[in-house]
Amino acid sequence: MKYINSNDYFNNVSNPKKFSIKEVLLTGQAPDKGLFVPEKLAQYDPEAIKSFKNKNYPYIAFKILYPYFDEIPEKDFEEIINSTYGNIKIPVKELYPNIYILELFHNWTFAFKDFAAQLLASVIEYYIKQNHNKVIVFVGTSGDTGPAIVEAFWKKENIKVYCLFPKNGVTRTQRKQMTTFGENIYPVEVDGDFHTCQEMAKSALDAPDLKSYNPTSANSINWGRFIPQAVFSFWLYSQIADYDEPVIISIPTGNAGHIGSNFLAKKDIGGLPIEKFIAPHNLNNYLVRMLEQGKTDPEVFDTINCLSNAMNVKKPNNIPRILYIFNNNIEKMQELIYPVTINDETTARTIKKVYEEKNYLLDVHSAVSLAGVFEFLDRNPDCKDTKIGAFLTALPAKFPEKIENILGFSPDTPDKLKEQQDKPDKNVFNLKADDMQGLKDIVCQTNSNQ
Ligand SMILES: Cc1ncc(COP(=O)(O)O)c(C=O)c1O
Repeated sequence: MKYINSNDYFNNVSNPKKFSIKEVLLTGQAPDKGLFVPEKLAQYDPEAIKSFKNKNYPYIAFKILYPYFDEIPEKDFEEIINSTYGNIKIPVKELYPNIYILELFHNWTFAFKDFAAQLLASVIEYYIKQNHNKVIVFVGTSGDTGPAIVEAFWKKENIKVYCLFPKNGVTRTQRKQMTTFGENIYPVEVDGDFHTCQEMAKSALDAPDLKSYNPTSANSINWGRFIPQAVFSFWLYSQIADYDEPVIISIPTGNAGHIGSNFLAKKDIGGLPIEKFIAPHNLNNYLVRMLEQGKTDPEVFDTINCLSNAMNVKKPNNIPRILYIFNNNIEKMQELIYPVTINDETTARTIKKVYEEKNYLLDVHSAVSLAGVFEFLDRNPDCKDTKIGAFLTALPAKFPEKIENILGFSPDTPDKLKEQQDKPDKNVFNLKADDMQGLKDIVCQTNSNQ
């Protein structure tokens, strides 16, 4: 692995120092706040892709991911994948003719983030057991990453998690999904927005006085959070298409880790004949403006508070990785990616439409994904015979108030979420925005007896 410097990507595309995947996962962020990327992007044998047709998710995940983790003995990685993904459910359904939905929200915390969070936690645990050392994990969240991370790392020995979330910026359900675990989980409620949390979590990785605790990141700046999501396109493809049949994929985009990792499946890299990636955003649409203007550095505006709050990201962290995947060629990006902005009105309208027409309940983020498909088809009616897969990213019950406002009733809530709502908070700390000293004090205090 090498790293790209996210601040001056164009001057510093490559770096002579190489890193092992272990270093990459256990440091999270590359030097100078850069991003780790592999020197070679994995290309797959067409025969392997053909063989995915009747295989289960762990099988496909192993084949797709192993090239990126190949310092781990094959047998060990296979065991990690099987124990992590052995019991998961990712149904694919045809909701409208030729429009398929990939339901990524049936597992641990009912959001797509779980898949990468769980694998990252399993691999870090594997290394910690081997090395007999300890790490601390920082994560800044807008509401969905935090629950996925704390659930994945809960009770993992010799690992402590500091989960920074914005006070008043997450739903009550999401808050409880982070604050009720205790043990090695330390939720930190910050009087600021998501960007403040993310910046604090990133700065903590570089803080000299925290280095001795071995800090790493569980945000998608960590390659270990980014890469596991690449499997989704291959899984979807195996479920809906015959070998070499073109498809279109829609991925709702905020910080661009989800769509970025799935670009690795494209024909010239991963080998899937994906004709277009629809990239639906809410009004926080940096990547849309980037592609429309053909510029790698469009203006950065203040965050706009939209219904799909987990996508309220003013400048996505993963843009340099996407540029790297596209070899820095913005025209190639413009050819493959269909960027679209979906406002709250359209999001709500899509939830109503799909509920009325199909009796199917979408969450606010998944609604952006499908709204992107509808808008794409309106403008490209000749694509109606191509199969389109829309990634649905969260369970509506995670955002009950929003569904209630739009449809007038609350979605059914799984027992696990209901039970969490009644549990008391544990280990919760409060900090003012940018209070890095406060964060360091929390780390020192919670590590003082060891
Ligand atoms: C439910 C949901 N959908 C979509 C997204 C967007 O994914 P990304 O930030 O990787 O672009 C997020 C991100 O937090 C999310 O939580």
